[in-house]
Amino acid sequence: MSVKYMPSNNSKTVFLVCFMVALAGLLFGIDIGFIAQAKDFIKKDLVVDDQVISWVVGSMMGGATFGTLISGYLTRKLGRKYSLIISASCFVLGALGCALAWNGTSLIIARIIVGFSIGVASFTAPLYLSEVAPKSIRGTMITMYQLLITIGILASFVINTFIRNCTFTGAEGQIAENFLISDISLSWRSMLGVTVIPSVIFLIGVFFLPRSPRWLISVGRHEEALNVLKKIRGTEEEAEQESREIIDTVSGQAKSNGFAMFMQNKNFRKTVFLGITLQLLQQLCGINIIMYFGPELIKAAGYTSEFATNLGTIAIGLTNVLATFIAIAYIDKWGRKPILVAGYSIMSAAMLGVAVFMHYNYSMAAIISVLVFIVAFAFSAGPVVWVLCSEIQPLKGRDFGITCSTGANWLSNMAIAATFLPLMSVLGASGTMLMYAACSVIAIFLILAFVPETKGVSLEHLENNLMKGVRLRDIGK
Ligand code: BGC
Repeated sequence: MSVKYMPSNNSKTVFLVCFMVALAGLLFGIDIGFIAQAKDFIKKDLVVDDQVISWVVGSMMGGATFGTLISGYLTRKLGRKYSLIISASCFVLGALGCALAWNGTSLIIARIIVGFSIGVASFTAPLYLSEVAPKSIRGTMITMYQLLITIGILASFVINTFIRNCTFTGAEGQIAENFLISDISLSWRSMLGVTVIPSVIFLIGVFFLPRSPRWLISVGRHEEALNVLKKIRGTEEEAEQESREIIDTVSGQAKSNGFAMFMQNKNFRKTVFLGITLQLLQQLCGINIIMYFGPELIKAAGYTSEFATNLGTIAIGLTNVLATFIAIAYIDKWGRKPILVAGYSIMSAAMLGVAVFMHYNYSMAAIISVLVFIVAFAFSAGPVVWVLCSEIQPLKGRDFGITCSTGANWLSNMAIAATFLPLMSVLGASGTMLMYAACSVIAIFLILAFVPETKGVSLEHLENNLMKGVRLRDIGK
């Protein structure tokens, strides 16, 4: 058979496709970052109490959990591409709703819609990426999704800081004409309104995506799958071979899907539990405490001026973006497992540092420890957990497996955000940080014992080993 050489367009197509899907991460990130700075303006403008504000914060995560839970069904029935279209449409709708909300309830409803779309996207984007990217760069492509999450967080920190600084708040000594934005209502509405722009780009982009070849084969549309593979693989031979491998894997699989497969197949149960554990560990290290309560933490460390909190918050966001490039460069070279072990080791030490330095009021050392923690998270747990969770599940159970792991991410994310302030009042800042440090230590042992190395291995190879009963940590061998 003649081997046609990779028209360089193919690698460009893969990159463009992956970038478009990774934009979902940007929307995810923007919404994480937004919470930190808009809450006090909303509180004043809509005249709502702390309880309503917690609902405004939590409703997004509640919507995301719901979105994640039905994503398995959506991606199976409609396919990955149409699930992304639903997500993007809801995002545009929800973002507009947030910017136009007239009271606490309407804002909460709009945030649930945004959350729903983020839940669907955070489920579907890594799944789609894992199914479309060639195995040699699969890790890098899924990491691009995490990179865009971090860029989204940074963008919203920067834009929101700028908007806050341009806002006439009526504080003593301010002169209205000196400010670009005349009141706090316009200010928080602009913070939320800017998210409409990337969501419209995302919506337009997803219409042009090819369908996932693995999904097409799972519903019997083999020829279409082969055509997609020919567009996104180097050679026709490569495309044909991959298509044959996927067909073999699908036909050799148990007929049951999702939950039934979970009940019947103990090998599948192992990857489901591993996915859930990985996502729980990702949240329990305490990353979102820094993302959501960054300004408060900086104040607690002793820097109370507005300038210092702005600078600190942006430094956190920027460090998060820059360190993700380490993962982009090395995830497909060093492998997932060594990166995770190194990351959690540094995270536990850095969190311990935050606890000790806060206790002794060493402000600068505490802030530096926070930044070291962010570096370690950003090159390890941040991207690698999403990568592994989308790789380890067998094709027939992938939707169910990823529903469970992504659902665990959102539920624990919500629980961490809700328990942070009460924990601080019971254990104090240092005690709370120590608890997160301990979770990272536990993570190291669990990773060593159970996580397989998936670098450069095809999804079909992982699945065949898993189903043969090979020990979880060895399925990549
Ligand atoms: C996590 C988010 C977190 C973000 C920070 C993601 O991988 O799932 O909860 O806010 O990383 O960069």
